[in-house]
Amino acid sequence: MTRDPSADNRINAEDIRRRKGGVPIVCLTAYTYPIARLLDPHVDLLLVGDSVAMVLHGHATTLGASLEMMIAHGQAVMRGSAKACVVVDMPAGSYETSPAQAATSARRIVEETGCQAVKLEGGVDMAAQIAAIVTEGIPVMGHIGLQPQSVEKDGGYKIKGRTQDNIAALFRDAEAVENAGAFSVVIEGTMEAVAAKLTHHISIPTIGIGASADCDGQILVIDDMVGMTVDRVPKFVKEYADLRSVIADAAARYAAEVRSRAFPSPDHVFTTAAGKDET
Ligand code: KIV
Repeated sequence: MTRDPSADNRINAEDIRRRKGGVPIVCLTAYTYPIARLLDPHVDLLLVGDSVAMVLHGHATTLGASLEMMIAHGQAVMRGSAKACVVVDMPAGSYETSPAQAATSARRIVEETGCQAVKLEGGVDMAAQIAAIVTEGIPVMGHIGLQPQSVEKDGGYKIKGRTQDNIAALFRDAEAVENAGAFSVVIEGTMEAVAAKLTHHISIPTIGIGASADCDGQILVIDDMVGMTVDRVPKFVKEYADLRSVIADAAARYAAEVRSRAFPSPDHVFTTAAGKDET
């Protein structure tokens, strides 16, 4: 397939919304051009998550993400994909102040990246922001349950849905996000039975991460999923590959060959012999 980053050939937010209750929606995060190229044939949705601040930029939390950072990574992922619905996260500080601020930031993200939708964290408290962005004609993915942008306020990464009060709040959040016009909602770090009930309670697709197999789709952070995460890997992650070892092994063999002058070999240098100087 020829890569055409225009929106026409892509899965869009409406396509995702229609997948409620159907074949599970396959989502992964992506932050770069090469990873987007590798993932695009396999997924329905690529999220340019604000987790990029931690995963690629080494910040302690997602609060290190800026609008400029999200736009730059969004552009790279759009260039590297042709089929997936690309959703760009709205970073902390770009939408909470007012619905007008949210609409302005969302417009900027969509205009500068060409992505299909934006995502923001919050339920009842962010319903007005979601509605304002949707009114602009920009699809919004919600994000409830554990909200990484609030971990400092919450005193850490706390699993949601353990108490009756919290379960009731989660239902109010899910309803608020749906009623505000979101096309889907991420449920993160939430007790399995509660995430399943939320999925059956609302009419938009739920995308689980540390949630339930009953969710309408699943998402993982790409670096976690391929075993690239060097620090603690959360319980909900399944590592489908061990790229830490692959990269460490390649680096060790390269270092040994450089030190012994085995690299570069005649195959990897330019000579004057005819036909040998092509890159
Ligand atoms: O930023 C992110 O990667 C996310 C996913 C974990 C859903 O929000």
